[in-house]
Amino acid sequence: MTQLSALPAGVVATLTAQPRRWLVTGAAGFIGSHLVEVLLQADQKVVALDNFSTGHQRNLDEVVAGVTAAQRGRLEFVRGDIRDLATCAAVCTGIDVVLHQAALGSVPRSLADPLATHDSNVNGFLNMLVAARDAGVARFVYAASSSTYGDSPTLPKVEDVIGRPLSPYAVTKYVNELYADVFGRCYGLQCVGLRYFNVFGARQDPEGAYAAVIPKWARALLLGDTVHINGDGETSRDFCYIDNTVQANLLAALTTRADAVNTVYNVAAHRQTTLNQLFEAMRAELVLRFPDIAKARAQHQDFRAGDVRHSLADIGRAQTLLGYVPSHDVTRGLAEAMDWYIARFAPVATA
Ligand SMILES: NC(=O)c1ccc[n+]([C@@H]2O[C@H](COP(=O)([O-])OP(=O)(O)OC[C@H]3O[C@@H](n4cnc5c(N)ncnc54)[C@H](O)[C@@H]3O)[C@@H](O)[C@H]2O)c1
Repeated sequence: MTQLSALPAGVVATLTAQPRRWLVTGAAGFIGSHLVEVLLQADQKVVALDNFSTGHQRNLDEVVAGVTAAQRGRLEFVRGDIRDLATCAAVCTGIDVVLHQAALGSVPRSLADPLATHDSNVNGFLNMLVAARDAGVARFVYAASSSTYGDSPTLPKVEDVIGRPLSPYAVTKYVNELYADVFGRCYGLQCVGLRYFNVFGARQDPEGAYAAVIPKWARALLLGDTVHINGDGETSRDFCYIDNTVQANLLAALTTRADAVNTVYNVAAHRQTTLNQLFEAMRAELVLRFPDIAKARAQHQDFRAGDVRHSLADIGRAQTLLGYVPSHDVTRGLAEAMDWYIARFAPVATA
């Protein structure tokens, strides 16, 4: 779980120097719940919105269990949907900063149901921009995606060189950037897009057909199930631990540099890890505590439609303009993340 104390001292000092009113959408999800947690730890007022389409009450329960009663009192949860403009307007009222995370994630989900993905990710996003503009929100930070790089072969990925989207999901995330840019130029709304690269950490959902690779494999390894690797396993990703992502959100929310807003940033660790390497690293981490997992083997299956082959972020822009310094590499992040998956699944694994 992200702790305020793990964030760079400068970020914590700026955050705690002034109480602000924050809106976190997608607050019952993986990334949103960590943002709520850190903001409450910093004694901020937080409105949290979610419709529980992919998020869970248990994530919010974990967050409130870890803060003081006074901090809990500064949280207002609203069960609602960003596809409804009136809901967006209501939650934006009186807000200083929006951290917009609500969306339907997953490339395969978008290929199976492009309408649903479009509805939340584009129509919902536009509702949020309109509501934030009308409410006079000072800063609108939103979850963009590395999927926007599409079929561009350039490595590492630099923000201004993108290719054609490879999935409906990627289209929606690119449209978000176009709308945010226009709202910046036409209405003066200060927007910052954060192109997340494969975020991982506690509370990332291990269940369901659209689970991300790290939680899915953690669950399988701990329960003794088969780990499936898509393709030859040489597909690579820039896996980014949740604390790095939280740090980037806060830096984007709090920066006073005029040249740092109305743009997009890569948010990653700047380290390329293949799926084969990831499997070895996860197994090695778990073997320390469960020796039997040494016997676990992975099974290769077909490549997955819509997946890009390689991903590695240039994080120079975020470093220069925001002062972003990733605190966790993949190894350290995996060690921390596994504690949560072990707490959830290990009793069965050791039975
Ligand atoms: N996790 C990653 O690696 C990653 C990578 C790139 C981008 N992103 C983006 O980051 C954001 C957060 O992702 P996450 O990994 O925490 O996913 P998540 O599914 O855990 O969280 C998304 C949350 O948004 C909520 N939500 C979805 N549609 C909604 C709607 N119409 N109204 C209100 N709430 C709604 C869900 O219930 C869920 O709690 C998303 O915008 C996602 O596209 C994530």
